[in-house]
Amino acid sequence: MNVVSPRQSKSSKREAGSISEGEMYACFSALSRISKAISGLRDLDAILKAGLDNIFEIMKDSVGGIMLFDKQTRLLYYHLHHKLSPRIISHMRLISGEGIAGKVAFTGQPMLIEDVTLESETAHPDIIVKEGFHSCISVPLRARGNVVGVINVINTMQSKFSKSDFLMLQAIGDQLGLAIEQANLYEQLRSGRERYRELSRRVITTQEEERRKVANNLQDKTSDKITALAATLQSLVTVSEKIETDEIDFKLKLKQSHALASEIAMELNSMIESLRPPFMDTLGIIQAIRHYVETNVIPSGIEVSFHLEYDGADLPIEIATRLFRVVQGVIGNIIQHSKAKNASISMQRYDDELVLRISDDGRGFDAGQFTRIQENGRGAGLFSIKEHTRLLGGRCAVQSSPGQGTHVTITIPLAKNPENIENQNITA
Ligand SMILES: Nc1ncnc2c1ncn2[C@@H]1O[C@H](COP(=O)(O)OP(=O)(O)OP(=O)(O)O)[C@@H](O)[C@H]1O
Ligand SMILES: [Mg+2]
Repeated sequence: MNVVSPRQSKSSKREAGSISEGEMYACFSALSRISKAISGLRDLDAILKAGLDNIFEIMKDSVGGIMLFDKQTRLLYYHLHHKLSPRIISHMRLISGEGIAGKVAFTGQPMLIEDVTLESETAHPDIIVKEGFHSCISVPLRARGNVVGVINVINTMQSKFSKSDFLMLQAIGDQLGLAIEQANLYEQLRSGRERYRELSRRVITTQEEERRKVANNLQDKTSDKITALAATLQSLVTVSEKIETDEIDFKLKLKQSHALASEIAMELNSMIESLRPPFMDTLGIIQAIRHYVETNVIPSGIEVSFHLEYDGADLPIEIATRLFRVVQGVIGNIIQHSKAKNASISMQRYDDELVLRISDDGRGFDAGQFTRIQENGRGAGLFSIKEHTRLLGGRCAVQSSPGQGTHVTITIPLAKNPENIENQNITA
């Protein structure tokens, strides 16, 4: 049998040593070309195609292809090929160990066969003769130590492949195997990231729905009753003031009860407002932001200036609500951490983008520290701001350093035509 497999052969070192300098140079430059062609490619098919194109650029008169294992049938099939006939493509579906390619896949050992027509183990000898195949090189493609496929290069002329062709293809096989491994890892990472994004989208959507439900319940079942109670107590206080009585303690307690009920009613209202932004449904995001600033920022002594060139009136409620959550998070941080004297909020609409900028002149912080949630839970607010923005398909840039204030820029893509914003998908 005229089969050579240097990885098995003890004499392979000596044979490799017989390769001329010119052949070595050609081999290295081919490898470097392939490496350049596939570097940076993440997609498996693009990697295999670049590898295959380069192989047949070097081995001009040959035919062949890359066989991979079908995930379902576990049969080796031609995933990509160069000038193979439809007959070969349809017939060459091999189980591991079957034919030359199957054997290479099974053993993981490359093979150089000088004349395939003399080879007893070919899968379809009749077709191989009809195709005029002569010599052949078959090398395994390995990813993470497992053979995932085979590269076959076949000569249809009487000329034989050289040892350097054989070594070069093995090296290309190893190189493509590594690239496949990386592509698989990248794919795992990508699909993991996609699952995470989907989960995160659901968490945020569910959170928003829950907030709305809790706010509605609080409004219907508690807030209205407390407000009614406060009003009743108010009228009792008024009546009691007109009554002549020595029960000073009674009057005082009544007044205190009224004050307490009013305080609870106000606190409940502000809880409801933070759960379900007011005016969002009726007056839109700008009024909701203004109201939030008036009730939360101004009392803390921070001056806020507005530069609103876009009123967001055409934003769908889902986008507006999410954007409001972002504003709430950023402004919440200004109140809680900035010690700022001034803050500014600007919103502009360009052709297909909404840009929201919120700045403060406070003490600033090291924004680089908060690229993720820290173990102690710090950073969750900024993380959620970025998640909300990302779910709108947008970008969030937080620029800050100690003593330099904080500048947050949110950019959200919008449909170019304002009429289409209504249909904009917010799942990013
Ligand atoms: N405008 C700001 N000025 C100064 N420091 C800020 C500002 N915004 C954020 N920070 C700093 O960044 C940290 C992280 O902010 P983040 O919103 O993620 O968490 P938090 O506000 O501490 O908690 P949470 O938002 O979950 O209530 C803050 O603890 C604070 O130190
Ligand atoms: Mg925060």
